[in-house]
Amino acid sequence: MVIHPAALEKRIKRHVRSQQQRFYVIVPPGFEATACRELAAYDIPAVQEDLGGVAFTGSWEACWKTHHRARIPARILVRLAQFTCTRFEQLERHLEAFPWELWFQPCQQVAFQVDARQSVLYHEGAIQERAERCVKRRLHPWQAISSETDSPDGVQTIYLRNVHNQMTVSLDCSGELLYKRGYDKHVADAPLRDNLAAAILQEANFSEFDMLIDPMAGSGTFGLEALLALTERGAGHLRHFAFEYFPAFRPAAYRYFLNTDVPSRHERPTLRTIVLGDIHDRPITIIHHNLQQLAALGVDTTQVRVEKADFFSTGAEFISGKTLVVMNPPYGTRLKSAQSTRAFFGKIGQQLRHNWRGCSFAILAPGTEAERALALPVARKIVFSNGGISTALLMGKIS
Ligand SMILES: C[S@@+](CC[C@H](N)C(=O)[O-])C[C@H]1O[C@@H](n2cnc3c(N)ncnc32)[C@H](O)[C@@H]1O
Repeated sequence: MVIHPAALEKRIKRHVRSQQQRFYVIVPPGFEATACRELAAYDIPAVQEDLGGVAFTGSWEACWKTHHRARIPARILVRLAQFTCTRFEQLERHLEAFPWELWFQPCQQVAFQVDARQSVLYHEGAIQERAERCVKRRLHPWQAISSETDSPDGVQTIYLRNVHNQMTVSLDCSGELLYKRGYDKHVADAPLRDNLAAAILQEANFSEFDMLIDPMAGSGTFGLEALLALTERGAGHLRHFAFEYFPAFRPAAYRYFLNTDVPSRHERPTLRTIVLGDIHDRPITIIHHNLQQLAALGVDTTQVRVEKADFFSTGAEFISGKTLVVMNPPYGTRLKSAQSTRAFFGKIGQQLRHNWRGCSFAILAPGTEAERALALPVARKIVFSNGGISTALLMGKIS
C-alpha cells in the first residue's frame, strides 16, 4: 500500500477538521437540564440524549469551548459511527471500513470501553477483542511507514456502546475525567466531584449572592468551585485534553482560541465572601492546602475565610448580605443507622431554621426520611445518585 502524507492530511482536513461533529457530553445524572443551560450560555445548543448524557452538533471550537469553559461535564466523546449490530461480521465490517488513520497518530496507544446491554451481541470481552483486531489491522500500514516509534503521551479510548442492537462508536476527547481541574487538590472523606459541585452551585444560582457559606466543607469543593468561577478562568484552564493528540488538532489555532476565549455573561458571579467551615482538623488542613495550590497558580484567594467550627453552634455571626448556605452533610456509612441519619438531619434543619434566618440554602439529603427530618421550606428539588445513594438536592429560603 502506498501512503502519501499529503493525501492523508487532505483527508483529515476534509473529513475531520472542517466537519461539524456530533459530541456526546457525560454529565452528573439528574443535572442534564443544568448542563444544557450551561452550554446554551456559550451558544452551544445541547439537548438531553439519555440519563447522564447530553449531545450537540458543532465545530471543533465548540468542543474546545466546552472543555475549556463548562464546569458540569464529566467527559466529552465525539461520535464516529452508529449502525445496527446483531452479528460479529457486521461489527467487523464497519470497524474495518472505518478510517481510523484520520483519528489516531500512527503509534498512538488505543484502549477500549465496551458497554453492551439488551442486545444480541452482549459479550463485552468478545466485542472488544474483535474491535481491537479491526482497528489494528486498519492502522497497520500507517504504523509501518511512521517514523515515530513511541506512542505520543496519553492513550486514546474508543467507546463502543451496543444498546438494543444499535452500536455507537465514539472517541474520547477529554482524557482524564473533567472534574479534575488540573491543580493538586487534596480531598477529605466523601468528597463531591468538582463538576457535581458546580452543577449544584449553578442550580442554586450562586452567582446572585454576596456570600457563600459551606459549614461542613470537607475538602472545600463548593467554595473552591465558586472561587474558580469568580476568577473567570475556564474550568479547563490548567489542564490538557485527549483531543490535543488527534491528527486534526492544530496547536496554533488552539493557542489563539485560549488567548481570546472569554467567559459568558452568565459566568460573572458577584460573590464577595466565601466561608468554609468544618468541625475537624484534617479537612481544615486540606482546605488550606487546596487554597495554597490555587494561590500559587495566581488565583486571588483573599475572599475565602476558613473556620474550624461546629455547625451546631454557629449561624448569624457568619451571615452578611444575600447569603447562600450549601451543605453536603455526612451520610451513608458515616452515619450508622437510619435512626441516626434522621436525628442528624433533624438537628441540621432545626439549626438552620433557628440560626440561619434569611439565608437561601442548597442542601443534600439522602432519602425522604432525611428530607422530612430537615423540615425546611423547600422550593425546588433535584433527585440524583451520589456515590450510589439516591440523594435529593433541596433548595429554598429560610424566612
Ligand atoms: C460529606 S463531607 C463534605 C464533603 C465536601 N462536600 C467535599 O467535597 O469534600 C461532610 C463534612 O462535614 C463535616 N462535619 C460533620 N459534622 C460537622 C459539624 N457538626 N460541624 C461542622 N462540620 C461537620 C465532616 O468533618 C466532613 O468533613
